[in-house]
Amino acid sequence: MEPMQDTQVNRPTTVIILAAGQGTRMRSRHPKVLHPLGGRPLLAHVIDTARALAPDRILVVHGHGGGAVRSALADAPVTWVEQREQLGTGHAVAQALPEAGPQDRILVLYGDVPLVGVEALKALLDALEGHDLAIQSMRLADPAGYGRILRDTAGRPLGIVEQKDATAPQRAIDEVNTGFLAARGERLAPWLRQVDRNNAQGEYYLTDCLALAVSEGAAVTAVMTGDPEQFMGVNDRVQLARLERIHQRRRAEDLMRAGVTVLDPARLDIRGHVEAARDVVLDVNVVLEGEVTLEEGVRVGPHCCLRDCHIGADAVIQAHSVLEGARVGPGARIGPFARLRPGAVLEAEVHVGNFVEVKQSRVGEGSKINHLSYVGDARVGRGVNIGAGTITCNYDGAEKHLTVIDDRAFIGSNTALVAPVTVGEDATIGAGSVIRHDAPAGRLTLSRAGQQTREDWQRPVKKTGPAD
Ligand code: UD1
Ligand code: CA
Repeated sequence: MEPMQDTQVNRPTTVIILAAGQGTRMRSRHPKVLHPLGGRPLLAHVIDTARALAPDRILVVHGHGGGAVRSALADAPVTWVEQREQLGTGHAVAQALPEAGPQDRILVLYGDVPLVGVEALKALLDALEGHDLAIQSMRLADPAGYGRILRDTAGRPLGIVEQKDATAPQRAIDEVNTGFLAARGERLAPWLRQVDRNNAQGEYYLTDCLALAVSEGAAVTAVMTGDPEQFMGVNDRVQLARLERIHQRRRAEDLMRAGVTVLDPARLDIRGHVEAARDVVLDVNVVLEGEVTLEEGVRVGPHCCLRDCHIGADAVIQAHSVLEGARVGPGARIGPFARLRPGAVLEAEVHVGNFVEVKQSRVGEGSKINHLSYVGDARVGRGVNIGAGTITCNYDGAEKHLTVIDDRAFIGSNTALVAPVTVGEDATIGAGSVIRHDAPAGRLTLSRAGQQTREDWQRPVKKTGPAD
C-alpha cells in the first residue's frame, strides 16, 4: 500500500466571498453587490453557488454599505466579516481567514462575479489537490484592466501583475487572473502577512501571494478555464446589463430545454423563480417575477407581467395583462389588458376581459367578467355573468366590505354594487342600477330613474354663420 498522501479532499472547506469594495464605477447610492441580476442581488447568486458546494462555512467580507448588504441578505447562512477600510483584496481575505479552521481549504469568490458555476469551483478545488495554491486564469481577447499571469519559459506560473503595475510587454499578455483561487489555509495566512502595499494602487494585493508562494518553492498551479463568460465581473452598469442578458439567455434556454416554447429568448425576462410545465408558450416581452408557476399548456401573450402567480393548465393570458399575487384556474382566459391583483383567485374556465381589475376576490368556475369592471373584496359564484362597467363599491372611505354574487347571477352593465351586499342565485340586476340592499335569488332587481322623452325640447342652433 502507498504511504498516506497529504490529501486535501477530506479537509474542511471555507469559502470566502469578497464583497467589501465600494463599486465607485457603478455611480450608485447602493452597494454594488446589491444591484440585481435576474431580480436578485448579485451577492445572492454568489452565495447560492457557494452553498451548492456544501462547504463547511461561508464567510462574506463586507465593508462599504455593509449594514445594507447584511440586512438585504439577513437570511443567508453565512458568517459576516467586516473590513472597515478597503485596503485591497489581500487585506480583505486576511480579515476573514481567522474565521476559517487551521487546516481548511480556502476558496476565494467575488460578490460581483455572479455567473460562475459550481462545476468550475469544484474543478478549482480539485486543482488544489497536490498543490498549495491554485489560481483560476482565463484568456481574453481584450485583457485590459485585469491582472496578467506571468509564467516562466517552461510555462510554470511565476506571479500576477496588475494592469496598473504592468510594463508594456506584460500588458500584451492575454492570460489574465479571474481572481478566483483556492489555497491551503495554513500556507495562505503567512503569505498574506508578507504582502505589502508597494504598488501603483497602494493596496494589499491578494494576487501577490502567487509570487510569494513561488519564491518559497510552494506547489502552485494556474488553471485556465475554457469558459471565460462565467468569470465576467460587474464593475459598471454596462457590464451589469451585459451579464443580465447572459443570465436571461441561460434562464430562457433552461425553460426551452424543459419543454417551453419561448418565441424570442432575447425578449423574456425572469426575475425570480419560474416553474413551467411542458407546452407552455411565452410570447415576446413577457416579464415573470417572484414565484411563478405555469402549468401544462399555459399560453402567455405579448407584453404581460406576472408576479407571484399560479396559472392552471391551458389557461391563456392575453396581451398586455398584469397579474400579481393571483391564482388562475385551468382553461381560464385573461385579457387582453386585464389586471389581477393580490388575492384574485379565479377558478376553472373563468373569463376576465379587457380593462377589468380583480382584487382579493374569488370567482367561481365559468364566470365571466368581460369588460371594464372592478371586482374587489368579492365572492363570485359559478356561471355568473358580470356585465360591462360593473363596479363593486367595496370601500366606504374607512372600511372595506364584502360583495357576494351567488351562482348564475346576471349583473347588467354599469351596475354599482354598494358593499356589503349580496346578490342571490339566478338573480338578475337591471343595467345601470345602484344596488344598496341585497337582491333576492331568482328575481329581477333594478334601481333606475324613469326614462322620459321631452316633447318641447329643441336642439340649440348657432346664431350667426355656418358652424366651423
Ligand atoms: C482583481 C485582481 C485582478 C483580477 C481581477 C478580476 C487583485 C489585486 N487584483 O482586480 O488580478 O484580474 O480582480 O476581476 O486582487 N474587495 C474587497 N476589499 C477590498 C478590495 C476589494 O472586498 O479592500 C473586493 C471587491 O468588492 C471586489 C473584489 O474584491 O468584489 C475585487 O476587487 P477590485 O478592486 O474590483 O479588484 P480588481 O482591480 O478588479
Ligand atoms: Ca473588479
